[in-house]
Amino acid sequence: MTERSSIAIVLAAGKGKRMKSAKPKVMHKIAGTPMLAHVLRAVRAAGIDKIAVVTAPGMEEVAEFARGIEPSVEIFVQEDQLGTAHAVLAAEDIFESASGDVLVLFGDTPLLTPATIKGVGDALSAGADLAVIGFEATDPRGYGRLILDEHGAVSAIREEKDANEAERDIRLCNSGIIGFCAETLRRLLPRIGKQNASGEYYLTDAVGLAYASGQASRVLRCAADEVIGVNAKSDLALAESAMQSRLRARAMSDGVTMVAPETVFLSHDTIFGKDVLIEPHVIVGPGVAIGDNVTLKGFSHLEGATLASGAVVGPFARLRPGAKVGEKARVGNFVEIKQTDIGEGAKVNHLTYIGDASIGAGANIGAGTITCNYDGFDKHRTTIGAGAFVGSNTSLVAPVTLGDGAYIGSGSVISKDVSADALALGRAPQEERKDWAAKFRARRKRGNAPKQ
Ligand code: UD1
Ligand code: CA
Repeated sequence: MTERSSIAIVLAAGKGKRMKSAKPKVMHKIAGTPMLAHVLRAVRAAGIDKIAVVTAPGMEEVAEFARGIEPSVEIFVQEDQLGTAHAVLAAEDIFESASGDVLVLFGDTPLLTPATIKGVGDALSAGADLAVIGFEATDPRGYGRLILDEHGAVSAIREEKDANEAERDIRLCNSGIIGFCAETLRRLLPRIGKQNASGEYYLTDAVGLAYASGQASRVLRCAADEVIGVNAKSDLALAESAMQSRLRARAMSDGVTMVAPETVFLSHDTIFGKDVLIEPHVIVGPGVAIGDNVTLKGFSHLEGATLASGAVVGPFARLRPGAKVGEKARVGNFVEIKQTDIGEGAKVNHLTYIGDASIGAGANIGAGTITCNYDGFDKHRTTIGAGAFVGSNTSLVAPVTLGDGAYIGSGSVISKDVSADALALGRAPQEERKDWAAKFRARRKRGNAPKQ
């Protein structure tokens, strides 16, 4: 048996009015990346041959983003948003001479998994003309209801607005994912009208038409939280929460230890090594790779950072894009790191900002050290050699280089390069006035005005 060719059409042209946002709906993020990226990646992972995305005029941002995720994607523009069937018609070119499967998915259903998408293809290969993924909703409001006949076959999908009271009680809902044999889709689409409460061309009407003409439709079921449709900001939060649960569960099954997983937030692309420990209240933004035996202590916030094995970060650390923490290096409390390589075993333990720098292996950066990397116009680099010691409360005025093993006295303002193994001090010399304090106190006791 030859493999059937498959096409996925991802609908993303809807106005998304209920989001109350200037941003196209599918560009709102879940776990650090737009919803559309989740859908496209799931489609690709399911092994679909061709992918189309339907956008609206003025949504170049969406088209460009889709191409960035999947360069072979074909973009179609639906001039007016007259409904989901009308949106599929906008992509007609991709299926007009196709012979395999055509899957229609929504860009606002970001939790869909490749396995569920494959299930639709399997049902069609097994002889169904149409397959729809349904789910049992605890709260079915807003979803189309699947109407089953007395034999359990799906006879129609009724949109909420068009449903009568009895139909509204139905909890089996339409996820939005419908697969068709290309031929069936071509036959049914032109017959879909807009005689409904919204005056839109509903793709869901294809199900009733297929039933009336005796075609075989199948209903597949999946878990409700896999097909949360995001229409409003409250749905976005719900989808985020479901995605976070999924990411945490995946991380733990890969061996990550989480003390309080419900307080940890991950990104779609977080990479974990072995024996990683994450304490409560850690936020991991996009682009973070965590090596073996790394500990992330509580209340740390990371994005675009790479942590080599044995690194310890936090509590209350902030790693910004380009932070690279070397093996067994340590980034402690209230430390912010940006675009900086920290060498093996180096320590930046307290109250520090390090930006646009490199810190050699084994260097020790004292509390309160600040790289002054920005002069109001440009960013400049700070280079700190291996084994250097930077005393507390030092300002490193970039561009500046400290040689290997250099030693900086506390409280220094360092604006010139320091050679290897040298001591540099850049602070006012200390002055001492003998017995001054005792005399001062005595004077105050006698009621005399203070005198310097
Ligand atoms: C839709 C389904 C409903 C299902 C629910 C699942 C229809 C008529 N209704 O309702 O049965 O339970 O999804 O989440 O299909 N779009 C376009 N062009 C248009 C209209 C919509 O591209 O003209 C896109 C939207 O961008 C969105 C998707 O189609 O990604 C679904 O549209 P939306 O308006 O969100 O439909 P729902 O009311 O959620
Ligand atoms: Ca929707």
